[in-house]
Parts: sequence; structure tokens; C-alpha cells
Amino acid sequence: MMSSKMTDALNQQINEEYYSSYIYLAMAAYLEDQDLEGMAHWMRMQAQEEYLHGMKIFDYMIERGARVELKAVANPPKEWDSPLASFEAALEHERFMTDNINKLADLAIEERDHATNNVLQWYVTEQVEEEANVDGIVKKLQMMGGGGQALFMMDRELASRPAPSIVSEAGGA
Ligand code: FEO
Repeated sequence: MMSSKMTDALNQQINEEYYSSYIYLAMAAYLEDQDLEGMAHWMRMQAQEEYLHGMKIFDYMIERGARVELKAVANPPKEWDSPLASFEAALEHERFMTDNINKLADLAIEERDHATNNVLQWYVTEQVEEEANVDGIVKKLQMMGGGGQALFMMDRELASRPAPSIVSEAGGA
């Protein structure tokens, strides 16, 4: 049986994943407003991926017989100083998410909850990829100076991001 402390922590993480989905959707809206549809598409795909991250925990908790509790999702920001600033904020957010996942894994180990730790290890690996993806975009934009031509090129590149899919060991998503 999952401890109440672990149950609370996973419910909080579901909320963090849905906030992530929300903040990327807000970034998509901001980038659409800047007429950067390819970048906005990348953010939309990222928002979908975060929804699936939340669902993977949701499904796992149900499989373990733990009670899912959905909490209110906080308002994301509406504006960023520039398209580059929005991707820099995305990178900062992913680093925050990595920290959350590491703390959850610490708790699972402390509680000898091997099943939860096993699921969390998927997120540990995923966060390496999440950070690397955004970091790559930020570095390219910085390298190209973040001006009009750089934005045009990155906009075209990011327009081809495919829709996310997640194979869940816990079923669903
Ligand atoms: Fe679900 Fe991008 O962390």
C-alpha cells in the first residue's frame, strides 16, 4: 500500500505536470501573438507531453489503489520579454521539474517504495531529455543572436516537432 506521504507527493506532482502543460500553452499563445507559429507548435506539443506526464502518474496511482486528488492549477504568466526569453523560462522550468522528480525519487527510496521508485526512474531519464531539448533551442537562438533571421530559421525548424506519445508501464497514456 502506498503511504499517505507518497500519495500526497504524487498528487502534487500531477498538479506540477498540469501546470507545466498550462505554462507551455501560455508560451504557445505568446508565440502565436508574435507570429511565430512553428515555435508555438513546438510549445503546443510540449503542453501535450506534459499532460501525458500527468496521466502516467494518474494511471500508476490508480493501479496501486492510491487516491488521486486533483488540485487547482495556478495561473501561468502571459508575457515574456522575447521569444528567446520564453525558451529560457522553459529551460528554467524544466530544471525545477527535474528537482521535483529527484526529491520524489529520494522519498520513494527512503520509504522503500520500490514500485514508485521504478516509475520515477522513467521520469529521471525523461527529464534529462526534456532539459537537453530546450537547452539546445536556447543555445541555438543565443548563438544566432536572437534576431529576426534567427527567429525565422528556428520557427521553421520547430514547426516539424511530432506529436508526443508515451508508452506507460502503468497502463494508459
Ligand atoms: Fe513533465 Fe517537462 O516535465
